[in-house]
Amino acid sequence: MEIIRVKNAEEGGKKAFEIIKDGIENGAKVLGLATGSTPITLYKEMTSSDMDFSNMTSVNLDEYVGLGGSDDQSYRHFMDVKLFDKKPFKETFVPDGKAADLVAACKEYDQIIEKHPIDIQILGIGENGHIGFNEPGSSFDGKTSVVELTESTINANKRFFEKVEDVPTQAVSMGIGSILKGKKIVLMAYGENKAEAIQGMIKGPVTTDMPASVLQNHENVVVIVDEAAASKL
Ligand code: GLP
Repeated sequence: MEIIRVKNAEEGGKKAFEIIKDGIENGAKVLGLATGSTPITLYKEMTSSDMDFSNMTSVNLDEYVGLGGSDDQSYRHFMDVKLFDKKPFKETFVPDGKAADLVAACKEYDQIIEKHPIDIQILGIGENGHIGFNEPGSSFDGKTSVVELTESTINANKRFFEKVEDVPTQAVSMGIGSILKGKKIVLMAYGENKAEAIQGMIKGPVTTDMPASVLQNHENVVVIVDEAAASKL
C-alpha cells in the first residue's frame, strides 16, 4: 500500500483528483465511486475542474434499502447533487434500494460490474473498518448483496437523518470480491474517528473482523490520510 499523508480533507481531495486525472489520461474509463462525507472534497475538485467525464462510466458501491433517487438521503441523490448533475458521465450506476426484487437486483448489479470492470475504485472507510457497506464478518469474495447495518454504522450515519429511527437498517452493497477487482484502489480517511480503522487496515492482521484489512492483499492501493486518521500508525 502506498500511504499519502495530507494536512486535511481539501488536500486529500486534490491528491485523489490527481490520481484520477492521471488514470483517465492513461485510459481509465470506469470509476468505482463512494458516498459519505469523505469523498466530497474529491467531487469538488472534479466538478470545479475543466475535465470532461462524458465518456466515463461510474459504478457506485452501495445504496440504502428503501431509498431511491427522489429521497434526499439516498446515495443516488447524493451522487447526482455532488457530482453527476454538474459533470455528466456517459452512464452512472447506483444499486436500486427500492427494487421490488432485491435479490434479482443484486444479481443484475453484479452483471453491471462485470460488464464495466472498474479501473479506479474510490473508497472511504467506516469506523469499524467497513468498506462499501461490507460490515465486519463479510466474506472477502462476496458479491453484491443485501446487508444488515451494524449499530456502529447506523450511529455514525444518523447525522445525515433527522432521527436515528429514520436510518435504514439494511443496504445493498457491492461485495468485497468485486471491490478487490478494481485495478487501482484509492481509499481516503480523515479525522480521529477513523484512526483505529486505519491502524487495523494497515498494521493489523488480514481478517474479516476488519474488512478493509483485505486491501493488504491488493497490489495497487493508495491510502490518503490526514494526520488525525494516521495518528495510530
Ligand atoms: C458509509 C458508506 C461508506 C463510507 C462510510 C464512511 O457507511 N457506505 O462507503 O466509506 O459511510 O462515511 P464517511 O465518509 O461519512 O465517514
